Amino acid sequence: MVAEPCINCKYTDCVEVCPVDCFHEGPNILVIDPETCIDCGACELACPPRAIFPEYSLPEQWKGYVELNATHSKRWPVLSAKKEPMPEADRWRYQAGKSDKVDLT
Ligand code: F3S
Repeated sequence: MVAEPCINCKYTDCVEVCPVDCFHEGPNILVIDPETCIDCGACELACPPRAIFPEYSLPEQWKGYVELNATHSKRWPVLSAKKEPMPEADRWRYQAGKSDKVDLT
């Protein structure tokens, strides 16, 4: 699933390598539909800030993202082609604690 490092970045390299179109786009983050994802792992290495994890290795502080990916992938549209990152992606990329700074609902 996609976790905090994607926030305010959305580099979307993940979308380009996904063979099953499982990424959905929200205003500040992408999420993965867990029912569509085939766990191929291609996106994990493609993501510049390393925002994507299989559930078993998701860092403890980001466990809430399991539910966020499952629920928001039902609400947000599929993104199936790479696009420009968010305007200040490079500035946000290395910031910690981004989960507390944006509204992901
Ligand atoms: Fe986000 Fe990384 Fe994809 S920053 S949009 S999960 S390439």
